[in-house]
Amino acid sequence: MTFPLRPITDEELPQLFHALQDPFGFHSDGDDVEDFRLTTELDRTLAAFDDEEMVGTAGAYSFELTVPGNLLVDAAGITIVTVSATHRRRGILRSMMERQLDDVAERGETIAILTASEASIYGRFGYGLASQSSSWTLETDRATLARPSTATGRLRLVDADRFLEAGPQVYDRRRREIPGAVNRVQAWWDVWQKDRPHTRGGQSARWYVLHEDDAGEVDGMLAYRRNRDAEHGLSRNVLTVDQLYGADDEVEAALWSFLLDHDLIHSVAAHGRPVDEPLRWRLADPRRLVTTDVVDDLWLRLVDVCGALSARRYGTTDRLVVEVADPFRPHTAGRYLLDGGPDGAACTRTDADPDLTMDVADLGALYLGGVTATALHRAGRIEEPTPGAVRRADVFFASSPPPWMTTGF
Ligand SMILES: CC(C)(COP(=O)(O)OP(=O)(O)OC[C@H]1O[C@@H](n2cnc3c(N)ncnc32)[C@H](O)[C@@H]1OP(=O)(O)O)[C@@H](O)C(=O)NCCC(=O)NCCS
Repeated sequence: MTFPLRPITDEELPQLFHALQDPFGFHSDGDDVEDFRLTTELDRTLAAFDDEEMVGTAGAYSFELTVPGNLLVDAAGITIVTVSATHRRRGILRSMMERQLDDVAERGETIAILTASEASIYGRFGYGLASQSSSWTLETDRATLARPSTATGRLRLVDADRFLEAGPQVYDRRRREIPGAVNRVQAWWDVWQKDRPHTRGGQSARWYVLHEDDAGEVDGMLAYRRNRDAEHGLSRNVLTVDQLYGADDEVEAALWSFLLDHDLIHSVAAHGRPVDEPLRWRLADPRRLVTTDVVDDLWLRLVDVCGALSARRYGTTDRLVVEVADPFRPHTAGRYLLDGGPDGAACTRTDADPDLTMDVADLGALYLGGVTATALHRAGRIEEPTPGAVRRADVFFASSPPPWMTTGF
């Protein structure tokens, strides 16, 4: 039995939103539907129907993704993937994935990205684990900075309106330097600013801070939440970072200091942070920044292998022939000659003998430099018909900084 797929209409948007609720486990009110409407690209939705009933859903955002070399690539951000519990394991997800990747290819996007509810789902569709993120906590009375910020200027506590006049531009400049980061459209900020109580994870509403340079130009932004707790009369209050971006590392360090120097605060917590959080190396006692979680974050699928590979820059100048397997989209499989370096890259199909062989998902994992070829080789995922090619690929695909997915979607 097949279930027809098509994009939804504007009138069907509440029905689609309703279809998400049981699979993702939430109940919502009318406001959520309107927020959802603001950010949904209707022509990129996909629903599977059993007669009138919507039994499968998917969608995509049209993103700009930063790739190594600080270049921007159009990428599809796959989202709202669900199949009704009454129709699971009948191939609906597979049919939506097929149709969606065809659509991505037709639009000329070379890459699809997503975040996964379960890490076991998307490898079979050619998505590789491309970035991880960490969560940590830091007790403020142990958080002396051995390398304090050298930024000059000043901090201002502001209201949400003032924050939104300047904060988004700070993010927009910074995300262009972070492989794995995506742009945030105005609708994203519009929804974010509403700070709906049920999205706060039991914490307070946000506080907002801007950093200004000596000329009064905003060059840093911080949003955080606070929870109130005490034990034996002692503060257990926690500040949780929501957004923290600066024009440079020194401004970001000034924002960290602002949080860590707060009175009546026991600790600062952060989630979805880069795995190489520089703050650790500023601390006099780096062990005090306690990592509480490291999880897979961005999953990346190469849709047009040559288009994507030639769109980034590489850590060293080299030529590698990669033989790619792609059971889900067999026409993508084949041998690719990648000739690249720090200043540019070219990619063509070739008949030459391969230096490396791997699944398209593993090439997706390597793409942003979030994992080494050596790790994938040692995991039995990459072969090297040319001895030494894995080591060459380590240096070639490396990214500095490592990828960080700044924006959940
Ligand atoms: C995950 C979900 C979309 C799967 O939909 P589905 O229609 O049952 O999937 P399909 O029947 O098309 O399965 C396709 C393949 O994926 C596998 N698969 C599906 N869900 C899986 C899961 N959660 N974990 C591991 N494998 C899974 C199937 O076994 C099948 O494997 P095969 O091709 O080797 O036979 C559905 O279970 C769901 O909505 N879950 C709750 C919401 C959710 O997690 N959505 C994903 C958000 S990122």
